[in-house]
Amino acid sequence: MHTNNKILVLYDSATGNTAQMARHVGEGAASVPGTEVRLRSLDEARPEDVVWCDGLAVGSPTNMGLMSWKMKRFWDVDMGEHWMKLDGKIACAFSSAGGWGGGMELACQAILTMLMNFGFLVFGVTDYAGKLTTLHYGAVCARQPRSENDQAACRKLGRRLAEWTAVLVHGRADEHPAKKMGERAMPS
Ligand SMILES: Cc1cc2nc3c(=O)[nH]c(=O)nc-3n(C[C@H](O)[C@H](O)[C@H](O)COP(=O)(O)O)c2cc1C
Repeated sequence: MHTNNKILVLYDSATGNTAQMARHVGEGAASVPGTEVRLRSLDEARPEDVVWCDGLAVGSPTNMGLMSWKMKRFWDVDMGEHWMKLDGKIACAFSSAGGWGGGMELACQAILTMLMNFGFLVFGVTDYAGKLTTLHYGAVCARQPRSENDQAACRKLGRRLAEWTAVLVHGRADEHPAKKMGERAMPS
């Protein structure tokens, strides 16, 4: 029985949309057996939560095509003293914007760049989450994740994060995505 796979879903959300995404990301992570998920808004999160986790999903509303200032501040100010101590953890990004084309993938890229600076191993997902729905650079949606496809993309991101930590941190080769091709959706 596996019980030690530790995932943190860390998010900022001014009006609740990214918070909804975060819940779906957490559900996806929890679907990998033996995974403990901490879901933390920036108001609740402590640097110790980041130190605790094996894998981290960071979500922010798209603000001017970037992450929110609050999320940047958390990493600039609160996490600064942990720089050089977090290398090798696995990480990914998600973002909600006001509309399609509003820069949510740019915001994901900004989050991933910041995490790379801290030494996180960041990843994208090749799988489709549903018809015409991908999450190559992280899960994205316009406002709330209303559609089943939006929600599935968030769940897939969380699940993949927990799969990677199971494989790469805990040596659980059976969780490798390449071993589960039958469960994975091809382009549609
Ligand atoms: C300061 C600010 C900047 C924003 N910049 C963008 C933007 O660049 N592109 C976009 O599509 N929406 C932008 N929005 C809209 C939010 O990304 C959008 O409403 C999002 O769903 C909010 O997520 P939340 O409910 O988690 O706060 C901006 C909102 C604010 C407050």
